[in-house]
Amino acid sequence: MFSKQQEEEKNLLGCEMGKEDYPPGWRKVLEQIIDQGKVSMVLGAPDTGKSTFVRLLAREAFARGKRVGVVDADMGQSDIGPPSTVGLGFVERKLDQLSESTLRGLYFIGSFSPEGNLLPAVVGTKKMVDKGLALGAQVLVVDTTGLVHKEAGKILKKSKIELVSPRHLVLLQRNGEAEHLILPLSRRRNLIIHRLSVPSKVRRKSKEARRKYRRERLQAYFKKNFSFILPLEESLLGRNISSFSFPEDDFVNLLVGLEDEEGETLGLGIIKEINLPKKEFSLLTPLGESGRIKRLLLSTIQLEFLSFSP
Ligand SMILES: Nc1ncnc2c1ncn2[C@@H]1O[C@H](COP(=O)(O)OP(=O)(O)OP(=O)(O)O)[C@@H](O)[C@H]1O
Ligand SMILES: [Mg+2]
Repeated sequence: MFSKQQEEEKNLLGCEMGKEDYPPGWRKVLEQIIDQGKVSMVLGAPDTGKSTFVRLLAREAFARGKRVGVVDADMGQSDIGPPSTVGLGFVERKLDQLSESTLRGLYFIGSFSPEGNLLPAVVGTKKMVDKGLALGAQVLVVDTTGLVHKEAGKILKKSKIELVSPRHLVLLQRNGEAEHLILPLSRRRNLIIHRLSVPSKVRRKSKEARRKYRRERLQAYFKKNFSFILPLEESLLGRNISSFSFPEDDFVNLLVGLEDEEGETLGLGIIKEINLPKKEFSLLTPLGESGRIKRLLLSTIQLEFLSFSP
């Protein structure tokens, strides 16, 4: 049995979506973006329907035969790739959720929020957009976090727009609260700005609901694991080991990004144990082999909540 809210959302997002199901103004903008292709970016405060717009755009563009890429630049509420990363997905079948897209790229941020990580957030988004275009995306859409306020939000969004150069900017807002983001860009010749209102049925997510979603996504990512023993080498860790602030306990359950020789993020891992006398450590990761791991990117996140079956 579906609740009334679930039914409403199903009608909007379900497979038999009719023209009348879109919130006001959305269909026109979706069509324009799909017709013109290229890169678009969706901005708005938390819970304004950004990811819903991205999902509808991806579905519709795919239905029209376009090669569709989605960059999920929300490292906290990740749909594509695990939390703490910027993910690139391609739509290869009719999807109900963005998480059903095929993962084609990852960039490790090492945090669940862009605050304090503005540069990696911008670099990661740009890298995933470039990769999406290189892989032939005809319609490439960037979903973003709801950080639009404070100085950090302004700098983050402005920098992303400057670097990614989207053709279309979709602004979802209730009372003009995100207008300040685009004020400096309002006269840009190559930028089309679409202002859309927030769907009345949008549900606000509590902090706890966001934490729960993040936890579930990470648990799903680490569901199937392999354990590897790796040497505690400075070149692998990318830093001077003597500068580490041991005790080793600080590193137990530490979330790390795993990079290959091209500097591409292969996936995530968790440090389980450090054996200083033997100069080695054990790493849990869903990656099936460790040979391609050339560097570990440390985070400050310790994932105590994950429990693994042996
Ligand atoms: N038109 C709609 N009808 C029913 N439910 C909707 C509609 N639009 C959005 N929702 C629901 O509202 C919630 C918030 O929407 P969404 O996740 O798209 O917002 P967001 O701006 O991406 O949020 P965040 O800031 O967390 O990234 C979701 O649960 C979504 O399914
Ligand atoms: Mg979202």
